[in-house]
Amino acid sequence: MLQVLQQLPADPILGLSAACRADPNPHKVDLTIGIYMDEQGVCPVFEAVQLAQRALVAEEGTKAYLAAAGDEHFNTGLQRLVLGEGSTALMEGRVSSIQTPGGCGALRIGAEIIHAAAPGAKVWVSDPTWPVHIPLLGSVGLEFRSYRYYDPATHGVNFDGMVADLKQAVAGDVVLLHGCCHNPCGADLTLAQWGVIADMAEQQGFTPFVDFAYQGLGDGLEEDAAGLRLLVARLPEVIIAASCSKNLGLYRERVGATIFVCRDAANARAILSQAQVAARRVYSMPPAHGALLAGRVLTDDHLGAIWRTELTAMCQRINGLRSNLRRALEAKCGGDYAFIEREKGMFSFLGLTAAQAQRLRQEFGVYMLDSSRINVAGINARNLDYVAESVAKVL
Ligand SMILES: Cc1ncc(COP(=O)(O)O)c(C=O)c1O
Repeated sequence: MLQVLQQLPADPILGLSAACRADPNPHKVDLTIGIYMDEQGVCPVFEAVQLAQRALVAEEGTKAYLAAAGDEHFNTGLQRLVLGEGSTALMEGRVSSIQTPGGCGALRIGAEIIHAAAPGAKVWVSDPTWPVHIPLLGSVGLEFRSYRYYDPATHGVNFDGMVADLKQAVAGDVVLLHGCCHNPCGADLTLAQWGVIADMAEQQGFTPFVDFAYQGLGDGLEEDAAGLRLLVARLPEVIIAASCSKNLGLYRERVGATIFVCRDAANARAILSQAQVAARRVYSMPPAHGALLAGRVLTDDHLGAIWRTELTAMCQRINGLRSNLRRALEAKCGGDYAFIEREKGMFSFLGLTAAQAQRLRQEFGVYMLDSSRINVAGINARNLDYVAESVAKVL
């Protein structure tokens, strides 16, 4: 039976990262995979998480399953973090959430619920979007339409194109939005533009599905949530896929949640019951360790304060790297790289051709995707000039 299946090519992003690890070039630089790396090139464990972990290990008396919806501290802490302490929807009790294995699990459970509620729903995705969105949501049976988003000529959002395309989204359709720090392009909507999307959702009746994987890595925890909170304040229904992989550094622990903002409390309860049944048929029970750590950090004032300070430093470092990279590229290559400073989060398209990106890998050991998407957090003081000089050589 199994013999009929052929070997598949490596995942385009993970495959390049593996190729970089295997490259003997001593100057090699990995700008492929979307994990935060510090000045030493290490993806660090937050101190707040280490403290929470020590306490958890000392106190944990059981490894029995969590509740099907996950850890209560985690769910309430994350709802407040995402929606804001003063969220009206929260106070009205019309929010429910289920703890999921990472943001990917959150997207998948969101897709299961969308498919159950509206089997013919079309999901509108930005062009470009994170490539994993398509298999993750598509495997549930949802169909896609794409809307214009990134304009390589301006290195910004083609908002007129986005609005023109989304005019065709109807009630029962879902519009997938990147809450902040767009992956892959780094170009985000302004608050005024989020307002226009809210107007359109109100008038046309589509449901926003916000992928929120980078809260705190753009401008700050509150600033990065402003667009999403505007939607929640104005619309009866919003679905959010939140991830703690990046902002709590819990990548391998698989911590996230699908948050459902519903018309009323009864519907929020009904949707939670549906989400639990959906999770049961996909992976059964949520993993505990990471969510118990995140729950402690998010609901403990002392740990929370340490974590916020660490996350702010991380965010400032990314924005500092953006400025340094802009200056280094302008110095070595000429041209205008101000867009790198305007963008948010870890990603940016350098605007190179696939052939130039391949030369960078093969001749210089500078690894980026063929689209020239880079992870800015892979830059540090030791490799900054080398990256900029290498780019200048392939231009
Ligand atoms: C846009 C986007 N959404 C969701 C995720 C989910 O990540 P995870 O499942 O690791 O939490 C990622 C991770 O890279 C991402 O870039």
